[in-house]
Amino acid sequence: MAILVCGGAGYIGSHTVHQLAAKGESVVIVDNLATGHRAALHPAAKFYEGDIRDSFVLDRIFTENQIEAVIHFAANSLVGESMENPLKYFNNNVGGMQTLLEAMVRHHVDKIVFSSTAAVYGEPKRVPIREEDETNPTNAYGETKRTMEKLMKWVSRANGIRYVSLRYFNAAGALDDGSIGEDHSPETHLIPLILQVPLQKRAAITIFGNDYATPDGTCVRDYIHVLDLADAHVRALEYLRQGGASDIFNLGNGKGFSVKEMIVAAEKATGKSIAVQTGARRAGDPAQLIASSEKARRVLGWQPQYIDVERIIRTAWSWHKSHPDGYTD
Ligand code: UFG
Repeated sequence: MAILVCGGAGYIGSHTVHQLAAKGESVVIVDNLATGHRAALHPAAKFYEGDIRDSFVLDRIFTENQIEAVIHFAANSLVGESMENPLKYFNNNVGGMQTLLEAMVRHHVDKIVFSSTAAVYGEPKRVPIREEDETNPTNAYGETKRTMEKLMKWVSRANGIRYVSLRYFNAAGALDDGSIGEDHSPETHLIPLILQVPLQKRAAITIFGNDYATPDGTCVRDYIHVLDLADAHVRALEYLRQGGASDIFNLGNGKGFSVKEMIVAAEKATGKSIAVQTGARRAGDPAQLIASSEKARRVLGWQPQYIDVERIIRTAWSWHKSHPDGYTD
């Protein structure tokens, strides 16, 4: 039996495939390569270039392979773009989830691990954020991910599919050897943008607002290493195999770092000084996002290994240093 990884050529998908392969799992990947990269594909995985909104592609994959469970990463994930083009996000993210679940029902595949996000919470009423806290997304991206969770909820009740939804906070870092990593186009995430300064691809990092109600005025986020996220997917899969009920888990380190603190940590991780300028706030940014991951630790036995933010940045640095222009393919 194999695990179908939708979006296995993307950032978190490729790291999860790496982890699954290391554990001896047989992996099938489907990815339309719209934002994923051929060079990020694991050599041991069977690859289908295709779109999960295409039910013929899914039928072919489910017929040609014995799929035991699905891990679903295939989605658009840029907050800003989702505000400019919400229909693209509803079409690809929600539409993709619908055709995927339909195919799973048709082919009697009953387990799915889903890549969700802290963006489902919107502006939190308290930190650390717990899974039962109110969800009120402030951007279309978060709304699509929440809708995808709801699709799984109703389908699980009606069709017996069990799911685990993993709500990541700020994914960061790369494989320690720098062979795979983060490559978004356009890049909007803080750590890759900070590292463009020592790479001499950017003159300075702009801090988006220094007047937030946080200790140093800049936004606070909970950065979690991509391999710790990958490990949570492997554990969630095992949890479903053991008969675990459908559930939702936050994934973060439980410790917040401000934008300014991240820049200082990046200076230490790279050994280079990083020029900084202050700009306006970015629309839709909550002041603070910090996870309570107590439930994932308790139920999944998950224990993040990369708890030092400087170490997380060092892994990102080894990827960006060796791939200053990202993937070539
Ligand atoms: N930031 C800057 N300057 C930059 C880029 C980012 O100051 O050049 C700040 C942002 O304002 C934010 C922090 O750095 O305060 C982190 O920004 P990212 O874009 O790296 O991450 P976000 O917290 O905005 O986004 C993350 C995930 C999204 C998810 C969101 C939930 O990447 O997928 O959390 O709000 F939707």
